[in-house]
Amino acid sequence: MSVPVIAIDGPSGSGKGTIARRVAEALGYHLLDSGALYRLTALSARKQGVQFDDEASLAELARALDVRFDSNSDGSERIWLDNEDVTLEIRRESTGEGASMVASIQSVREALLERQRGFEQAPGLVADGRDMGTHVFPSAAVKIFLTASAEERARRRHKQLKDKGIDVSLAALSRDIEDRDRRDTERSVAPLRPAEDARILDSSGLSIEAVTNTVLDWVAEL
Ligand code: C5P
Repeated sequence: MSVPVIAIDGPSGSGKGTIARRVAEALGYHLLDSGALYRLTALSARKQGVQFDDEASLAELARALDVRFDSNSDGSERIWLDNEDVTLEIRRESTGEGASMVASIQSVREALLERQRGFEQAPGLVADGRDMGTHVFPSAAVKIFLTASAEERARRRHKQLKDKGIDVSLAALSRDIEDRDRRDTERSVAPLRPAEDARILDSSGLSIEAVTNTVLDWVAEL
């Protein structure tokens, strides 16, 4: 029996993470935050002193990632890397930058592929990333490409980081997001783009509830 996969892709700050979590909760499905795996690979490299141009060692790190995804009693995430709590560290912009660098390496992407596919378990999966619908789960039941204007994405990311106690200027964040979008869109391996059969959803000006409900409506059409 095949397990339904809901693939949600899109650029940084489009709200994928929040929407994917809400949709997974509403459906009682598993959740894959694929960006976290790239962030963890970058963080692991930094901690172990592996350079970002050492592709073979990076791929090995990605393959051997010792990670545990937990949640706190209030439902918020808790992430462990080598038994160290890295919940806050992986969300820093510098880690996002590192993630987008290691994510452009083919062997790193291959090393993470099977781990990502391992999340496809009953009763279903909501997978959030850049290439969920195009590469990792090409036969996903529902594919969504979530976007929002660049200004809104920077504002949202700014608020998200502030709420976590991470201080960063809006201007610096806008620049980072622009750089990351460019790198993610222009890279030769698994570039960020909507799958041919993806439904595009522009969340600018829409509430989290409205976007979540639209996605749930599309799932209900299955
Ligand atoms: O989504 P998040 O901001 O956590 O992703 C961090 C980086 O990881 C992205 O900028 C992108 O370069 C990379 N990524 C990717 N493919 C995915 C998820 C994330 O290349 N499926």
